[in-house]
Amino acid sequence: MGERLADKVALVTGGGGGIGEATARLFWEEGARVAVVDNDGAAAREAAGKIDGAGERVLAISADLSREPEAERAVRETVARFGRLDVLANVAAVRVWGPITEATPESWDFILDVNLKAVAYCSKFAVLEMVKQGGGSVVNVSSANAVSGRRGMAQYDATKAGVLALTRSMACDHAAQGVRVNAICPGPTLTMFHVRRRAADKGISLAEAEAEMREAGASSTLLKRQAEPREIAYGILFLAGHESSYVTGATLMVDGGLSV
Ligand SMILES: NC(=O)c1ccc[n+]([C@@H]2O[C@H](COP(=O)([O-])OP(=O)(O)OC[C@H]3O[C@@H](n4cnc5c(N)ncnc54)[C@H](O)[C@@H]3O)[C@@H](O)[C@H]2O)c1
Repeated sequence: MGERLADKVALVTGGGGGIGEATARLFWEEGARVAVVDNDGAAAREAAGKIDGAGERVLAISADLSREPEAERAVRETVARFGRLDVLANVAAVRVWGPITEATPESWDFILDVNLKAVAYCSKFAVLEMVKQGGGSVVNVSSANAVSGRRGMAQYDATKAGVLALTRSMACDHAAQGVRVNAICPGPTLTMFHVRRRAADKGISLAEAEAEMREAGASSTLLKRQAEPREIAYGILFLAGHESSYVTGATLMVDGGLSV
């Protein structure tokens, strides 16, 4: 247990699983009071329960953050319970596969609503709260594929590039108010979402799918392996806390060297 976020209040979107859950857990271990927000309310409650069974420093919130009033409610409920908001980690995202020749207006709306607009909605209400307090830190999770091309995920990668532009412009707008805004670009990270999808697609067990994914991730990075969610969470923790006090508008690559 550490104290890097002692006395801080953090809201983590997508906290019901994967990198979001690992981030919420690490923030909690570093002393923060944490709101775990997810549109999968059961997953948010389960993650919150695993992090802090007593529920003293954790709050689970079920909210579809692609809807602005829901993002506002998530921030409002966090402040009502914990009294302030110092850190927003925008982790929630969805994926759409295929080239843009297969994209539809519906698939564009779906992915833009969560990956870009929800980041902006949550940031809007969090920043308004942080400005009242005199400062705060926003960390937006993008992707190594926001800066590095590949086949088959054009819509997703475009939204993640949008997150980087949003991050830089938000940093410009809010620096004078004491709000730092940074982005992190994970490389391939082994989360249950990917394992479950591969197992279902190929009709194989979760263990087989995980082994295949470890192998697949190994070929695309310099470090020859996939990241564990906690390795990404450490980057988010750095950008969230006081150790990055002179960092704003930055993009931190935590991608095993994929993008170089
Ligand atoms: N896993 C990877 O390989 C990888 C690589 C690069 C970037 N990323 C990024 O890291 C972040 C986390 O990825 P992950 O693999 O842990 O994802 P994940 O799919 O495991 O978790 C995403 C969470 O977001 C939630 N969510 C989806 N839509 C929502 C909505 N409308 N409102 C609230 N919550 C919603 C989901 O329920 C889920 O719990 C994402 O931004 C992703 O794009 C992941």
